[in-house]
Amino acid sequence: MRSLLTAACAAALMNVAHAQSAVQPPKTWATCAACHAAQGAASIGPPLAGVVGRKAGSSPGFGYSRAMKNAQLTWDDKTLAAFLSDPQLTVPGNRMPFGGVPDAGEVAELVRYLKTLR
Ligand code: HEC
Repeated sequence: MRSLLTAACAAALMNVAHAQSAVQPPKTWATCAACHAAQGAASIGPPLAGVVGRKAGSSPGFGYSRAMKNAQLTWDDKTLAAFLSDPQLTVPGNRMPFGGVPDAGEVAELVRYLKTLR
């Protein structure tokens, strides 16, 4: 009986772990979500589904700044990490009203999350 219960508990715990691995946004995402939708339409900022691998400033129909449209960047691990750490240094003159995420670990988590958005 005891081992059955243990097995049931283990299964329940595994389910929880599984649910959490399914595209849970990191805490910092709440800040981004004020301006960005993970899925679907643009809000204050451009939609971020599929942003990894896309050229900067290329989501159709979003009114980007000239700086972003002309940035000549493709979003990948490196360019996203740089941009999220210091948006103005990476794309000078862009119009994202956000100062950057100072913590490198949080930046890495955000990039990992952005990669899951399709
Ligand atoms: C206050 C609103 C606001 C916040 C907060 C914000 N953004 Fe933005 N974001 C924007 C706007 C506006 C743009 C477009 C900037 C431009 O055109 O110069 C943008 C652009 C971007 C781009 C470039 C997208 C593309 O299509 O080229 C990425 C990536 C991005 N934001 C990610 C994030 C992440 C991740 C966070 C959270 C750490 C965040 N943003 C926080 C408003 C915001």
